[in-house]
Amino acid sequence: MERTLIIIKPDAVQKGAVGKILDRFIQEGFEIKALKMFRFTEEQAKQFYIVHRERPFYKELVEFMTSGPVVAAVLEGEDAIQRVREIIGPTDSEEARRVAPDTIRAKYGTDKGQNAIHASDSKESASYEIPFIFSALEQI
Ligand code: RTP
Ligand code: MG
Repeated sequence: MERTLIIIKPDAVQKGAVGKILDRFIQEGFEIKALKMFRFTEEQAKQFYIVHRERPFYKELVEFMTSGPVVAAVLEGEDAIQRVREIIGPTDSEEARRVAPDTIRAKYGTDKGQNAIHASDSKESASYEIPFIFSALEQI
């Protein structure tokens, strides 16, 4: 079994899509091992996305991720990291609607920046991101 982190981003929380998105992962067979709603501070969002600090979209990304509450969860399942990335779809929501219409970003995202959901993209990123958001006591 493998664990991965998802964060339902401020746009999808604002749209009222939290329940539908969590239900999709439950229907796909994942178990929710941790769950919470919170709002990132600027410093926390910068640190969470530190790998992108040199990218042109970093400032916009931090502004977006701090613009409202998010809902984070740890999901567990076979090959969870790769399978969850497939279910969320391509980074650009418009591309997702063209090439992968059954994905979460196709259904709930707006564009490349406001794309409804984050998911860990490797074992390395999951092992940084899960303890960044959840303490051991918060995970079952
Ligand atoms: P995430 O980390 O949020 O799961 O998304 P990802 O792996 O699919 O994409 P990544 O390249 O890691 O980018 C992180 C987030 O930055 C925003 N972004 N904006 N305007 C742009 O060109 C642009 N490119 C990326 C998105 O919110 C993306 O999810
Ligand atoms: Mg990423």
